[in-house]
Amino acid sequence: MSSKDSPKLPQHLAIIMDGNGRWAARHRLPRAKGHEHGGKTVQRVIDLCLEKGIPWLTLYAFSTENWGRSALEVSALMHMLKKYLRERLPEMQEKQVRMHAIGELHMLPADCREELDRCIRETQHNRALNVVLALSYGSRQEITAAARRLAEQVQAGQLQPADITPELLAQQLYTAGMPDPDLLIRTSGELRLSNYLLWQLSYAEIYVTDVLWPDFDRDDLEAALASYSSRERRFGKRRSKG
Ligand code: IPE
Ligand code: IPE
Ligand code: MG
Repeated sequence: MSSKDSPKLPQHLAIIMDGNGRWAARHRLPRAKGHEHGGKTVQRVIDLCLEKGIPWLTLYAFSTENWGRSALEVSALMHMLKKYLRERLPEMQEKQVRMHAIGELHMLPADCREELDRCIRETQHNRALNVVLALSYGSRQEITAAARRLAEQVQAGQLQPADITPELLAQQLYTAGMPDPDLLIRTSGELRLSNYLLWQLSYAEIYVTDVLWPDFDRDDLEAALASYSSRERRFGKRRSKG
């Protein structure tokens, strides 16, 4: 790449925001404080995506499996989610951020759900950045539900099994109509997907940093983007030269 070329940017960045608990332990604070500081990082990363012109950002905020944490931690997270959505809505409007959500949203407490629905509805015409919150999200559950809906269509005689293609299945996922992520970042050093976007990440580039989510800053994002721009994405084909 010559210096006058602008670096290749991901069109869709997906993040596993991990390490809030360890950050809190390191600072001798309760876990909820780690999540609170993690919320500040969310805003920082949204602003950086706007600045850099990355049009899609999907954030793993709460997994299906996270319901298994203590009632205290779950309620602190739900309270923070509601507060975040309520307080940040005017800023999202001002910055033209459109909010989406994926996951088993009916599992969320009613007050969170209402705040989320309001945020999604009121930002639907914003165009600068799409922020997708993965909430009560689990990829295996998502794919299973998609398979079940296709089976129901077959049973009703509306679909032939031979007509089921990857594209048709993708249309049944929560992410229908969204581009697949190009880059996955996981913070806090864990080398696993934790049931996140298993289908959609098939050809994403993966970047793992030891930095804990509350500490993730501009330099860390820029390091991830620099790594992404140097990758050669082959999608199973041969190299472009040689
Ligand atoms: C990520 O931080 C946030 C959520 C899963 C909601 P963790 O709470 O998993 O933090 P660690 O992994 O315990 O450090
Ligand atoms: C993944 O992190 C879920 C979110 C970041 C919301 P976890 O901390 O729940 O994942 P594991 O338990 O380390 O795999
Ligand atoms: Mg974790």
